[in-house]
Amino acid sequence: MSGTAPGRAPGAGGAAGPAPVPPVALVGDGLPVPCVDGAERPYLSLDTAASTSALPQVAARVQEFLPWYSSVHRGAGHKSQRSTAAYEAARAALMAFAGRSEDDVAIICRNTTEAINHLAYRLRLHREDVVVTTVVEHHANLLPWSRAATCRYVECGADGTFSVGDVVAALDGGPAPRLLAITGASNITGWMPPVDEIAAEAHRRGVPVALDAAQLAPHRPLPTSPDFVAFSGHKMYAPFGAGVLIGPRRAFADGDPFLAGGGAVDLVDLDEVVWSQPPEREEAGSPNVVGAVALHAAVDTLQTIGWPALVGHDEEVARRLRTGVAAIPGVRLLGPPPGAATLPVATFTVAGMPHALVAARLAAEHAIGVRHGCFCAHPYLIRLLGLDDAALGRFRGQVRQGDRSAMPGAVRASGGIDTTAADVDRFLDALARLASGEPAPVEYRQDPRTGDYHPAGPAGAAYTDLLAPSDGHGGCSPG
Ligand code: ALA
Repeated sequence: MSGTAPGRAPGAGGAAGPAPVPPVALVGDGLPVPCVDGAERPYLSLDTAASTSALPQVAARVQEFLPWYSSVHRGAGHKSQRSTAAYEAARAALMAFAGRSEDDVAIICRNTTEAINHLAYRLRLHREDVVVTTVVEHHANLLPWSRAATCRYVECGADGTFSVGDVVAALDGGPAPRLLAITGASNITGWMPPVDEIAAEAHRRGVPVALDAAQLAPHRPLPTSPDFVAFSGHKMYAPFGAGVLIGPRRAFADGDPFLAGGGAVDLVDLDEVVWSQPPEREEAGSPNVVGAVALHAAVDTLQTIGWPALVGHDEEVARRLRTGVAAIPGVRLLGPPPGAATLPVATFTVAGMPHALVAARLAAEHAIGVRHGCFCAHPYLIRLLGLDDAALGRFRGQVRQGDRSAMPGAVRASGGIDTTAADVDRFLDALARLASGEPAPVEYRQDPRTGDYHPAGPAGAAYTDLLAPSDGHGGCSPG
């Protein structure tokens, strides 16, 4: 099932066997994909900050489980009992992975976005309640809060970072906040705020802390200082649609749940509902047991490999990627300097070349998958790019007219457990060629509805015919 690309350790198939040492090949690594010159090249995914392929251990565990798949918490049959046991074992494993105690509860949901929306609902916020959050957040940790409450934002400097003192100033700004919502790592710069120090300051003021760990969870041990934590399977090698929200059990003990429906109730009459206790109270509807099994396998595998090996690998990829990108003439690395401690993420602009064209050429000519645009974190990218209000007003007007051709943005390359030094070098070589002004082998045309570029002419048509329909939907960079 899994291809083993050069330089990567094959992932052991099942749970048994020695721990693989990163880089570990993921399912589908090295698959040949078509390029615009008619050749096929091994696909290089440098888009792990968006979504990761599956670990072979995850795929194997799902295959083993599927014959036993049945209803969870609903059936007396053998398979139902086994499915329920697998689901509850996954919950326990997620709690252990996050270092949580029995006072906490893990609510299995779709992803970080759903988890944070869930929390925002459950905290019963009112418009006058203040949530302190930061401009570094991605939209999942901004929009649920700004919709339900009044946000006070921690600003960042030109390098995309802020200090503990900046957070303290926002906490102390008055009125007193109900919550501090902060990321564990930026999806654009890979910068990791000092979460433990920040959480200590919030707790000193009686303010609970929610951590968006979507990016952090596959890369670093989760800090246990925040009260709530959310993360997603699709960013940690378990792309089967499950994520988790963990927090104090008492926060979910009273009141109606985020989703109402079967499985969340002990007794229903037409005019009265007795909700069950958490976590069931918070998981109405049939749960995603396959996703939970996959996430369980992923956290087992990460823990078997161990954090020292994972972090060591990450730091090496981050150093090579970010110093390499910053050294290419005409390329500007956004965020902290290349030597700073970050996740293996490099977001950059190329002088004289639209971000969408850089990404299209990396894909069509080099079989390299990156993300471009604003990365679902518009306020942060606007700051990193240094855009002023006049420019923003112009872009807003154009987008409202359905024209995304001049949308600001950047290009992001992000690595993971499977990224090798050779992968990074292959990407840097391709980027250097583009940035040096190497002519494109075909003409590229932009679709103003999406902002994306596509190869044109007969060679382009042959290439694009193999890919997604261009009907103006499904562009690469929506926020
Ligand atoms: N999934 C979003 C990303 O690509 C947040 O970073």
